[in-house]
Amino acid sequence: MNKDLTSINDLSQEEILGLLKKSIELKQEVKKQRRLDLAPGTMGALIFEKPSLRTRVTFEKALQDLGGSAIYLGPADIGLGKRETVPDVARNLSRWVDCIIARVFEHSKITELAENATVPVVNALCDEEHPCQILADLLTVLEFRGSLEGATICWTGDGNNVCNSLMLACGLVGINLRVATPKGFEPPQAVANRALEYAKKSGASITLTNDASDAARDADFLYTDVWASMGQEGEAEHRRQVFRPYQLNRELMAVAGSDAKVLHCLPAHRGEEISAECLDGPQSLVLDQAENRLHAQRALLAVLLSHRK
Ligand code: CP
Ligand code: NVA
Repeated sequence: MNKDLTSINDLSQEEILGLLKKSIELKQEVKKQRRLDLAPGTMGALIFEKPSLRTRVTFEKALQDLGGSAIYLGPADIGLGKRETVPDVARNLSRWVDCIIARVFEHSKITELAENATVPVVNALCDEEHPCQILADLLTVLEFRGSLEGATICWTGDGNNVCNSLMLACGLVGINLRVATPKGFEPPQAVANRALEYAKKSGASITLTNDASDAARDADFLYTDVWASMGQEGEAEHRRQVFRPYQLNRELMAVAGSDAKVLHCLPAHRGEEISAECLDGPQSLVLDQAENRLHAQRALLAVLLSHRK
């Protein structure tokens, strides 16, 4: 595996499947032993320019499970790229800690950290991608369906960071993905092209549409996310108008079929991108996704930290 996880593009199909297998193994092992000590005495630096519940807690817990610890550096702490350049932060942290986990705005800050750090750098969400979320989501699909290949996921809403990572991952592992967004909110063409390239090899079908019902037909999973991501709060009102036909609700679930499961990376806005009855209903897997953040990231860190000198 590469030194870093900056994007789903850093992983091959085999590496994703290997991480999922390890996630399941460690998930079972940690239930018996609580502490695994696969990376004793290590420390991870968590640089967060944006708020977080799931990502912060699960990375801190994952490090602890492996015998390590975490130091949280919030938005006011280090002024990444302002008080100090990104390369300087990366070089300094590399002298003290064993990995850097970063949630930032621009993707370029993740790649700059990775290029300048001698320790692994993990993308904990940026404006373009959320790869750790998608590893947890694939784990959830695998656990509930028994296999990844041939599953069909419908994404409805914004062609955002989570959607980008999902497209790339589905292309790599052979999951069929239908993405429904309003016009003008499609995922970037470059990401779609890359996902289609992967799909040619894996046999996945990846389609983009502006019609949520078309995308939902016979889907096994319906996935959505907030209409305005962190940093887009000023556009929230406009987006609420544009995105209304893309809500994940009972009508859309009826199109998908009676067994369809509901996915959402959380946090969610009930009554906006998803109805409360779908989010909180019996077909919702959102808390399994949230739990699997821990299991997927524990496995990821175990692999990345096993290469340290
Ligand atoms: N899904 C997710 O990344 O949640 P947080 O923003 O709370 O970390
Ligand atoms: N697209 C959302 C995901 C939050 C986990 C955001 O970037 O705010």
